[in-house]
Amino acid sequence: MAEIGQNIFEAADFLRQGKLVAIPTETVYGLAGNALNPAAVALIFETKNRPSFDPLIIHVSTVDQVPLYTEQFPDQLRMLAARFWPGPLTLLLPRKKNIPDLVTSGLERVAIRVPDHPLAQGLLSRLDFPLAAPSANPFGYISPTTAAHVEAQLGTKIPYILDGGSCEVGLESTIVGLEDDKVVIYRLGGLEIVEIEALVGKVIIKDHSTSNPQAPGLLDTHYAPRKPFFLGELEQLIEDFGKRKIDFSVLSFEGKFNHIAGQRQIILSKNGDLKEAAAHLFAAMRTLDETGADVILAELMPDIGLGKAINDRLRRAAAKA
Ligand code: TXA
Ligand code: MG
Repeated sequence: MAEIGQNIFEAADFLRQGKLVAIPTETVYGLAGNALNPAAVALIFETKNRPSFDPLIIHVSTVDQVPLYTEQFPDQLRMLAARFWPGPLTLLLPRKKNIPDLVTSGLERVAIRVPDHPLAQGLLSRLDFPLAAPSANPFGYISPTTAAHVEAQLGTKIPYILDGGSCEVGLESTIVGLEDDKVVIYRLGGLEIVEIEALVGKVIIKDHSTSNPQAPGLLDTHYAPRKPFFLGELEQLIEDFGKRKIDFSVLSFEGKFNHIAGQRQIILSKNGDLKEAAAHLFAAMRTLDETGADVILAELMPDIGLGKAINDRLRRAAAKA
């Protein structure tokens, strides 16, 4: 089993040996390996059971590292980096050839981000290579937001989990790049669109497929619990499933359903706070997947701010039901 601890020196040693370590970030936990070592990168794909056409984000300690791995750092993206790093923003930049093909799945751009977490920062600043790190979940499943989530699924496959507590943001980073000098968002995430637009003006949203923005239409199902997950108007769903005598649990934004047992419902934010809802989302989906009833009933959040990113995850979770 993986050792769980807060020892960044031990974590760094494993990484230098080409082994993998789960690391906390402010968004979700990552499954990290040396991004410049193709064998370590291959091990990431194998451990996650991830298809090799789905490229990885590399994590660096500061914006100063970016020119080591990219041919060009356009002004608009540089402005975003200056404002939002460290933070839940990933930039797609033209890659240098020192980044292995496997990291980018052969694409010409590399995804780069500076995470905002003291342990991730402490670790990265001690390493002389960037960390390739997808979310530390088996491919297609819900991203982990605690060390225990990682242990439950990858605990037998990796030597060390760096425990940084619960992730503050709870949604993956927002992925941004340029097309013909226009700013494009490829994945909605923990950094809100309005914040980006305040800096660079109107953006284009091309959120075709979270798992491969370069191949629209692929893999709509993602972030998915194993139990069937239904999205809609909760009162109605509750009535329908009740009539059909199907054992359900409920995931709501702020509302409590008095006629449903406490352990059969999770309220994401009693105060209707989208930030709090985002931080609780993935843990709540896991809890209802592991305990609770046979199916999960859920509702969309208000379609503003972080609500848009949360709704994207909810829709993908529901896509296979
Ligand atoms: O918040 C996050 O971004 C977390 C933490 C650990 O940093 N990481 C994460 O990684 O969510 P992952 O691998 O689960 O999702 C990365 C997404 C994938 O959908 C992938 O297709 C996209 O980033 N991506 C990575 N490199 C890309 C590239 N070169 N071009 C287009 N999309 C890319
Ligand atoms: Mg992921």
